[in-house]
Amino acid sequence: MKLFEYFGFTGKVNQLMAPKQQFIAQKISRRYCVFAISLFSLQGIVALLGAVDLVIPDLPSPIPFEYGRAIHLGLSTFWPLIGTMGMIYFFITAELNREIYSPRLARWQFWIVILFCLLILGSLALRIGNGREFLEGMPIFYVGICLALALASYNLIQTLLTDKRNITPAAATMTVGMTFLLLLLLPNTLTYTNPIADEATKFWVVHLWEEMAFELTSAGFIATFYVVSGLASRAQIEKWLYLEASLAVIGGLYGTGHHYYWIGFPAVWLILGSLLSLVEVVPVGLLVHMTYKGLKHKKIRSNREKLTLWLLLSSVFYHITGASLLGLIITVPWVNLYMHGTFFTSGHAHLALFGSLGFVVLAGCYYVLSQGSEPTLKGYKGGVLAVILLNSGLIAMSSALMVAGLMQAYFWRILGMDFMEVRLSLNPYLILRVLGGMVFTLGDLLLSWHIYRTWRTTNAK
Ligand code: HEM
Ligand code: HEM
Repeated sequence: MKLFEYFGFTGKVNQLMAPKQQFIAQKISRRYCVFAISLFSLQGIVALLGAVDLVIPDLPSPIPFEYGRAIHLGLSTFWPLIGTMGMIYFFITAELNREIYSPRLARWQFWIVILFCLLILGSLALRIGNGREFLEGMPIFYVGICLALALASYNLIQTLLTDKRNITPAAATMTVGMTFLLLLLLPNTLTYTNPIADEATKFWVVHLWEEMAFELTSAGFIATFYVVSGLASRAQIEKWLYLEASLAVIGGLYGTGHHYYWIGFPAVWLILGSLLSLVEVVPVGLLVHMTYKGLKHKKIRSNREKLTLWLLLSSVFYHITGASLLGLIITVPWVNLYMHGTFFTSGHAHLALFGSLGFVVLAGCYYVLSQGSEPTLKGYKGGVLAVILLNSGLIAMSSALMVAGLMQAYFWRILGMDFMEVRLSLNPYLILRVLGGMVFTLGDLLLSWHIYRTWRTTNAK
């Protein structure tokens, strides 16, 4: 028996769900999603090697740690970005029940975004970068990503304008989210001599992309999925969507201010940022309430929808814990003073970026790529196992990072011990992180394999 069969990934599908009318945009969206999943599986391997390198630094490696880290950080935004592009094309056509304005532009956009992502990752592997954390590729390559985002925004806006009477809130929210992704990245194609301007524009991508733009695109997808799966009525979900969208914009725009003081902005941003970060939690709480009510009244029978929901619920969990609560704790100025830039922040970064955004994108990509197929019970169980491994790995590695971060802050910043001495004392926790990373990578590869098999099967139809 092959390994993947052992886990139930037989690739066989029931014919329970006949594909609905397939729009060209929905076919194109599959390319984006399958590419996103491929980058996600690559990321697990690259990241694990990086984590091993931190505990065994003399290992022979063709790429130095700092460039490996830059590739890992690039990947952590590229695959969610590409997956989101695919999800939006899929769900906007489902929402509006019509074709997008220009499938041709969507095809061009795909090749452009892939080309420039690969140029960034490839040049980093050749040790060509600019040292600007999170946006380490050459600025010119980000112009290419902006071009892809501009094509996406134009295409989506035109799609909405083609039939103005038939615009739904979910479609509008996803379009606004995509446009924000473009507007926030654009300033990063320039270089700044003023370090505050440089840091602030970088934060618009590192933080505002996730806390505002991706919130909007994900909310649109969640709303459509809830209506399609019968978890909430359209009226109910639209009320939530209005609240989520307005709070994401207010909470995102001002909440990101919790970082500004530390990069040179006036102190008022400390208070504004911390208080307004709080509002980001409200819509997630409401979503949990709605899901609970929905699941009480409606039994979801489709394994495809159940697996999507497992991924989505994982995201909701980390949204509340790893992103909002943990984010709130490190936002408190007296805490941030000690925790800034420690492994504790890295714990938050993993729980928030993969936990809340990554899981949503995986849910969307799985849903898109499995259209027209229903996993067998064994296949479904294999998918759930992958979700469990991802969650266990993520929790294990982030907990180890958080303990390491607490010790780092205490020994180094409070007791004033030597940096290297402290760093060496953290090794046991970094080894635990490697073990958590292994479990995570296993889940990553299993899920990617499952999705890949589903994609192959549905492609053949
Ligand atoms: C989905 C939502 C979120 C994502 C994806 C996210 C992601 C991240 C990432 C990647 C970092 C590390 C950045 C770096 O090293 O410069 C970070 C840092 C930080 N985040 Fe979040 N975050 C989210 C939500 C929040 C929320 C809601 C808050 C506050 C309530 C928050 C507060 C912070 C703070 C204060 C830091 C800086 C820690 C330091 O100074 O080292 N985050 N976040
Ligand atoms: C096998 C799983 C993973 C392992 C072993 C891993 C390992 C690492 C390592 C070694 C670093 C650099 C140094 C450090 O902060 O410790 C790092 C940083 C980072 N990783 Fe991962 N990673 C994994 C998965 C992910 C995923 C799936 C994402 C997001 C989609 C992600 C996002 C980040 C971010 C945002 C940082 C920067 C943190 C900061 O500067 O505070 N990682 N990771």
